[in-house]
Amino acid sequence: MLDAPATPRETTEETLQETLLEVNNIEVIYNHVILVLKGVSLKVPKGGITALLGGNGAGKTTTLKAVSNLLHSERGEVTKGSISYRGEKVQDLEPAALVKMGVVQVMEGRHCFEHLTVEENLLTGAYTRGDGRGAIDADLEMVYNYFPRLKERRKSQAGYTSGGEQQMVAIGRALMSRPETILLDEPSMGLAPQLVEQIFGIVKSLNEEQGYTFLLAEQNTNVALRFAHYGYILESGRVVMDGRAADLRENPDVKEFYLGMSDEGRKSFRDVRSYRRRKRWLS
Ligand SMILES: Nc1ncnc2c1ncn2[C@@H]1O[C@H](COP(=O)(O)OP(=O)(O)OP(=O)(O)O)[C@@H](O)[C@H]1O
Ligand SMILES: [Mg+2]
Repeated sequence: MLDAPATPRETTEETLQETLLEVNNIEVIYNHVILVLKGVSLKVPKGGITALLGGNGAGKTTTLKAVSNLLHSERGEVTKGSISYRGEKVQDLEPAALVKMGVVQVMEGRHCFEHLTVEENLLTGAYTRGDGRGAIDADLEMVYNYFPRLKERRKSQAGYTSGGEQQMVAIGRALMSRPETILLDEPSMGLAPQLVEQIFGIVKSLNEEQGYTFLLAEQNTNVALRFAHYGYILESGRVVMDGRAADLRENPDVKEFYLGMSDEGRKSFRDVRSYRRRKRWLS
């Protein structure tokens, strides 16, 4: 890494210049009164993996749902700020219209159609497409190529597959809509560390080999910062820090609050703070 040639790095930084998604100072209120996002801004560059980090209830899911316009069903509303994709305002678009523009969300908690097979689940992702069976089959093969496990399980009812497989189905289904940008909410949730590594590894390959852009929300800062290019840290509905993933990994506060404890898994900032308080009491 130390002697990495200059050219590829420059190329990477160049390709990361163009902003696809821009969230500009948004405020989100649930039920007309609960202010959850208090002016969140972020940029997602084309071809990058951008991580949205933060503990329990920080506002990660709310931010992703604001982008895909999924807040209404939760009685949530963007009351300030703007969201644009390729420079076009998108906050009033239906989720399906956004998919047509190339933005698809993989929801937290996976959400497969349990009674459909793995392959049927994947094919539901292609419903907005009009480019014919041949192209869809080619993408199905692409998905199976990245997730060989899904090929083995293609005829299994999704409800009977493991948590890791269901996460793969959820990502695979998103890929079937031929997106440009994938909003991925908490892919590590409830999965064993080895599976988390595997899934992030696949996300990275999809990014590098197929050029997909990712915005991923994660409590697991440690893993996310190893795979992402850039990170934003959210706390109580505000971005408290942002920077290149490599820099955040080295940042003393991030190390202490997020990375130091991460061996134990999904510690939130709040947990760490109470832990520190406890430590003071004990010492
Ligand atoms: N439908 C809702 N109505 C009212 N409050 C909500 C609703 N959904 C979320 N909230 C509140 O908004 C805040 C942010 O929640 P959000 O789900 O965006 O956090 P998160 O960062 O995704 O957390 P986690 O890591 O636990 O998934 C929390 O305080 C939560 O209680
Ligand atoms: Mg969430």
